[in-house]
Amino acid sequence: PPHSLEPISLSSLSLDAQALHNQFDELAAFSDSPAPSVTRVLYTEKDVLARRYVKNLMGIAGLSVREDAIGNIFGRWDGDGPELAAVATGSHIDAIPYSGKYDGVVGVLGAIEAIHVLKRSGFKPRRPLEVILFTSEEPTRFGMSCLGSRLLAGSENLANALKTTTDSKNISFLDAARSAGYAKDDDISSVFLKKGAYSAFVELHIEQGPILEDEGISVGIVTAIAAPASLKVEFEGNGGHAGAVLMPNRNDAGLAAAELALAVEKHVLESGSIDTVGTVGILELHPGAINSIPSKSHIEIDTRDIDEERRNHVIEKIHQSAIKITKTRGVKLSKFSIVNQDPPALSSEAVINAVETATRELNLTSKLMISRAYHDSLFMARLSPMGMIFIPCYKGYSHKPEEFASVEDIANGVKVLALTLAKLSLQ
Ligand code: GLV
Ligand code: MN
Ligand code: MN
Ligand code: MN
Repeated sequence: PPHSLEPISLSSLSLDAQALHNQFDELAAFSDSPAPSVTRVLYTEKDVLARRYVKNLMGIAGLSVREDAIGNIFGRWDGDGPELAAVATGSHIDAIPYSGKYDGVVGVLGAIEAIHVLKRSGFKPRRPLEVILFTSEEPTRFGMSCLGSRLLAGSENLANALKTTTDSKNISFLDAARSAGYAKDDDISSVFLKKGAYSAFVELHIEQGPILEDEGISVGIVTAIAAPASLKVEFEGNGGHAGAVLMPNRNDAGLAAAELALAVEKHVLESGSIDTVGTVGILELHPGAINSIPSKSHIEIDTRDIDEERRNHVIEKIHQSAIKITKTRGVKLSKFSIVNQDPPALSSEAVINAVETATRELNLTSKLMISRAYHDSLFMARLSPMGMIFIPCYKGYSHKPEEFASVEDIANGVKVLALTLAKLSLQ
């Protein structure tokens, strides 16, 4: 028979942990901030070099490499049924300012190593296997997260918005993409895939939380991804001289922003659920001089929940607070825009089962959990059944330089991924 029921002999799963370890260091060197921090922003020189590094690894793994108009990179291993919908895996390599070297990267380098593991074992896939490097999971440069996966999932809104989107230096998305060798023509809707393009998608990622490490568990099996949203808000006042304008005569746009930031915290806490979170990670004041009353302020708010309605209610309350602040402080609300307000995503039973079985067969401990961070999987779930494999990370640290995952934990994750891909490829 072409395929035994047991896709591969488990004892033959061999992993080159040392090579993988070196790859993390090599990729981390493509950074615009000093080690141990990593800063790798979409379409910068470092991003382009890192992409080249990954494409080279895909080639060494025997994958055929293709890139789409915005730089999603696909490395494909055709199975016995090249006409069948492929099983896909992958993640991102962009890194927010002063972050670490594992977020996303585990799911890209780990996926390529999983292909090596399968090849070494003699496994022959039925459905093709594809490794995807997604463009810009992080919102750093253009303010919108998961550009690559959102577009793959066919977001017309995003495709339209990107025609006029610019970064903080006024470089347009399309010019930035062209400088990295992409977007040769302006129509980026060529990126869209059809529903069913993949038979399954599974992403390997660090947990970015402390549960697995605390409980001494090797693998987290994600059942759902929390619903993220982000907002941009701007206030305007008259500004003026910090000494000469007396307190009763001010309409301070900076204080309006500060008051709104505190209101975000208040509304999040009022939800009464530990699952509701909100963060003001950007707060900018204009003109930004110690002796000038801020005449403009700009704040960006991130809020998430596993319950979409409750999260939407928080957004509504933030909006009401912003309006109220304009009255009490005499400022103008010059912008209140919801950049994204995404629903949560559920993992598929079939993918959860495949990961669970793989974990059990490898004698590893596992736990079902939700993902509070978002991932490209949130959007891949619109195209195909989706699942995620989490591995422990040191103290749950992420989005900071201290982020760390051990070679052993990464190796476990890669083996679970390899076996899961093998199973899904035979389904
Ligand atoms: C993505 O990095 C997130 O903020 O969850
Ligand atoms: Mn991240
Ligand atoms: Mn990530
Ligand atoms: Mn993320």
